[in-house]
Amino acid sequence: MRSKLLQMLMAQQGKFVSGEAISNYLGCSRTAVWKHIEELRKAGYKVEAIPRKGYRVIHQPNLLTKNEIKAGLTTKYIGKNVVYEQSVSSTQEIAHRIASDGAEEGTVIVADEQLGGKGRLGRPWFSPIGSGIWMSLILKPKIPPQQAPQLTLLTAVAVIRGIKEQTGLHCDIKWPNDILLNGKKLVGILTEMQADPDQIHSVIIGIGINVNQDFFPEEIKEIATSLKIEKGEEINRASVMQSIMVQFEQLYELFLDEGFLPIKHMWEAHAITIGRRITARTITNSIQGYAKGITDDGVLLLEDDLGTIHKIYSADIEF
Ligand code: BTN
Repeated sequence: MRSKLLQMLMAQQGKFVSGEAISNYLGCSRTAVWKHIEELRKAGYKVEAIPRKGYRVIHQPNLLTKNEIKAGLTTKYIGKNVVYEQSVSSTQEIAHRIASDGAEEGTVIVADEQLGGKGRLGRPWFSPIGSGIWMSLILKPKIPPQQAPQLTLLTAVAVIRGIKEQTGLHCDIKWPNDILLNGKKLVGILTEMQADPDQIHSVIIGIGINVNQDFFPEEIKEIATSLKIEKGEEINRASVMQSIMVQFEQLYELFLDEGFLPIKHMWEAHAITIGRRITARTITNSIQGYAKGITDDGVLLLEDDLGTIHKIYSADIEF
């Protein structure tokens, strides 16, 4: 009931809803409506009540539970099913498990804290309680497995757009999937797949966003940042997450209808790697040269000083 009421109030985007309209919608008495409003207030919502006008939400608490994520969400299927956990080892692990148990496309797993957050190349991902967005999205696209990396690039564009919409901040992409703000890492994306050689069962896209951290551990404090540090104010995590899901759904539908090309152009517009002299460090060696662009499968093309073009599938990039 509280979730339904919240969704109704949030959908009005700050406009008043009459007590009568709420009681009709919820199928309960006006006294019951008032009790539910009191419950919301106890949970940290500021709800204004004016006689003959009704109720409106004027402040949301910075929570990331199922109710907050779903309230006012306008997507068709991305985030329609949300699994929220307060503390987990990794949202990726839960996503893998429920994807093989038949979770539907668009299911999102989100946690307030990860004790074993996973980054790329087997690195840990710092995921402290209550301050970031730690989420995994389950997709079931009917595309060949070799095209799955394109979804990582699509995700980067969706995240950048969502962040811009909610904060006005402009981020950059460092190939393949680091999102930087003022040169420091703000977001990491980890794409994993359950597939046969010729068929995808599920793609699990893990997104970690540093939102309201004030500090980072010694070992990453020079290279990591948060939206709060850059914007100078606390940011509502649920609103950022909603904007990203809306942007994701639009881009995903474009991708399924028209293929990767329009997404590639959008990605290139944000990429700071392309056209620059870089060093690509892989596990076995390091290559210096000009980043010429990406292929349709998201592979980086690097031209070395002898003019040889190298295809880089996975590496750390330095400028
Ligand atoms: C990177 O190394 O840049 C990728 C980091 C991805 C972190 C996210 S947080 C949510 C999801 N769960 C994880 O354990 N990892 C991803």
